[in-house]
This record gives sequence, structure tokens and C-alpha cells, in this order.
Amino acid sequence: MTGHHPPVTDWATDFDHADPVWAANPFPIWDDLRRRCPIAHSDRYGGVWLPIRHEDVAAIAYDTDHFTSQSVIVTEGRPLAPAPQGIAPPISSDPPFHHEARRLLLPAFSPKAIGPLEPFTRSYCNELLDAVAGEPVVDAAEQYAQHIPVRIIAHMLGFPPEDADEFREFVHDALESVDLPVETRIENFAKLDGYLRAQVEDHLANPRNDLTTFLLNAEMNGEPLTPEHVGGTIALLLIAGIDTTWSAIGASIWHLAQHPEDRRRLVAEPDLMPLAIEELLRAYAPVTMARLVKEDFEFNGCPMKKNEWVLLPFPAANRDPEFFDRADEVVIDRAENRHAAFGLGIHRCLGSNLARMELRVALEVWLEHFPEFSLADPAAVRWSGGQVRGPRTLPIQIGIP
Ligand code: HEM
Repeated sequence: MTGHHPPVTDWATDFDHADPVWAANPFPIWDDLRRRCPIAHSDRYGGVWLPIRHEDVAAIAYDTDHFTSQSVIVTEGRPLAPAPQGIAPPISSDPPFHHEARRLLLPAFSPKAIGPLEPFTRSYCNELLDAVAGEPVVDAAEQYAQHIPVRIIAHMLGFPPEDADEFREFVHDALESVDLPVETRIENFAKLDGYLRAQVEDHLANPRNDLTTFLLNAEMNGEPLTPEHVGGTIALLLIAGIDTTWSAIGASIWHLAQHPEDRRRLVAEPDLMPLAIEELLRAYAPVTMARLVKEDFEFNGCPMKKNEWVLLPFPAANRDPEFFDRADEVVIDRAENRHAAFGLGIHRCLGSNLARMELRVALEVWLEHFPEFSLADPAAVRWSGGQVRGPRTLPIQIGIP
């Protein structure tokens, strides 16, 4: 749970994305900042900037000369020593290292590699919903969404499916508990590191046809990857793929629970699903990433200091009325939709084919089982805080009330 810091009183000068008010409903905060100051600043976390407009978020995301990805999660700490790859390549790497580290992963996440995972995903989603058949209220986050990406990425990496709870804890420590002291965060990371070492040892002893063995055999510029590179990339895939997709599935079900017109259209016109998914990703984009300022630098009149953070709120960029018509509405068949939910620039999400497949299959299977549903108790819905936002408690009333 977040909220270890004092509550925010002024979002333009003292914001905190780990504040429970932001987690519950960030949209009015962004609307207000868009009008008052398109780039906010806070002294928390040792200094952090928050651009709100699409134009500014895009400019910073594309500018790898002035902003580094050495660390993309805002915390009290800073990376100890700059290294070309950072702790979790490719997301923590800058050019030129980034290019090669990303390139070697591309085949594993191409449409050709992801397509064959669809039947497995579908049968797992069916299994989850068969297990709750007949229950009047189902928690779509706890009993459904949270399990899907964990199971798929464990399958891809060749990790035991029964370790799912442990993975979720690692992800929670990395992404949600961002306002804890640095020492506690380091202890938490040691747990993940120990777990991954054991998995790597096991794969070295027993190579198999999975992503972990692929990484252990991969080469970059003719050399095998260092153990730190392999471990960091596996940690990234676990962390990047789980909360994000789970949040997108949950937020989509949350929307459909409250919009019978959209829900009924999707049931009647299943071909609409690809457009609907893009629109749900735009409207409820779960991921905000960060950069560190490389050297003192003035950006659009803001005096940015070396080692200050800059948050890149892709979800707020997706709601910018200067960039999208009817930005604050969900237009379920929106035809033109250049949303930034998967980021902008060289670090654009490498797992987007996988994420889209999981989101589509999860919604299709849910609607097949439950064409009619609503929020059982709107006050009980709880959203995660920090840089990945999605419902963590989502009780759904099944059927027509
Ligand atoms: C709906 C689900 C997802 C969303 C919204 C999402 C969003 C994002 C965003 C915004 C970035 C850009 C980061 C930056 O600019 O610093 C990113 C990068 C990345 N994502 Fe995703 N992601 C999702 C699912 C996944 C999945 C399922 C995986 C794979 C298991 C994945 C793997 C990655 C990787 C490896 C990167 C780093 C790419 C690079 O640095 O070149 N993501 N994602």
C-alpha cells in the first residue's frame, strides 16, 4: 500500500504520484494541471517534474540526449553508478547499448512468436472463470485479471507456475512500494535476485526451449550476455509484463461494468474488439515511466537540474484534448487512435503484441461467460498507486441486477 508520505495539498508544487488521492482518481488532477501549469514540479523524491501535455511528454520521451533511462521508477534513491546497460536492460539502457539489447529480444515478442500462445491463454482464462461459475459476485482483479499475465510470462520464461504469488510480491515491491526507504527497497530486490539466480542455475543445468534458455544462449555483438544482463532482463520481463497487463484487463472490465451500451455492442459485434482494446488502452493507460535529467538543462522554461526525475505520464498524454477529440470520453469504436499507452520513442513497449493478445483474450472470455455484469460495490474498488495504475480490488455483480 502506498501513502507513506504526507498527503499532497498542492498538486502543482508538491505532487506525489504515490498519494492515495492520485491512485483513486488522477483525471481531475491532470485536468487542473493542464490548465494551470503544463509542467508541475515537486521537491519530493529529491526533485521531480511532471509534464502533462502530450506534446511535452512526447518531446521528453524522444530526447535521449538530455534524459537518461538509467532508472525509470521514481524513488528516493538514484542509480549508484552509471552503467551502459542499467539494472534491467533494455528499459534502463541508453543508446547505443539500448539498440542491441532491445534487438535481441524482438523475435521472442513478435506476432509470430506470440500467436501460438493464444490457445494456452484462452484455456487458462476459461479455467479461471469456470472456477467461479455460479458465484453471484466475482472479484475481476483478484480472481481473474491478476492471474493471467503471471501465468503466461512464467510459461514463457519456464518458471514454475506455482510461484505466481511470489512473482506478484516482487512486482508489488518494485512498482508500488516506491515511497519506502531505500534500504527496504534494496532488501526487497535481494529477494528477487535470489529467486532469479536459482532459476538461472536450474536452466543452466537443464536447458529447455524457453525464454530463459534463449537469453542464456543469446549473444550481443558476438559475445554472450553478462549474467547481470540476463538477470536484469528476466527481472524486467517479470516486472514489466505483470502489473501492466493485469491493470489494463481490470480497468477495461471496470469500464464495461459501468457502460452497458459498450458492453452490449462488444457482445453483439465481436469484430469491434481490436478497436475497443485500443480505446480502452488509451483511456485507462496504466503505465507512467520516468527519466533522470542528465545535466542541468532548461526545458520549456523549466530549470531542470541534473539527477532530478521527470515523470512521463502517458495516461495523461492520452487524455490531452489538444491531441485527441473527445479526449475524456471512451469512444468504443474510435477509428484513429495514436495513443501513447505503450510509450513513445526508442523504449516503446516491446511486449505490446503479447499485452494486446492477453487483453483481447481476457475480455473475450469474460464476455462469453458474463455478457451482463455491473459493479457490486463502487466504494469497494481499490486502485494501485505509483507508476502502474489499475484496479486491485474489483467486485463485480454477475448478471442483470
Ligand atoms: C497493457 C500492458 C502494457 C503496457 C501498457 C506497457 C507499457 C509500456 C511502456 C509505456 C513502456 C515504455 C517505457 C519507457 O519509455 O521507459 C514499455 C516498455 C517495455 N515493456 Fe511494456 N507494457 C505492457 C505490457 C508488457 C508486456 C506483457 C511485456 C513483456 C513481458 C512488456 C515488456 C516491455 C519491455 C521489455 C519494455 C522496454 C522496451 C525498451 O526499453 O526498449 N510490456 N511498456
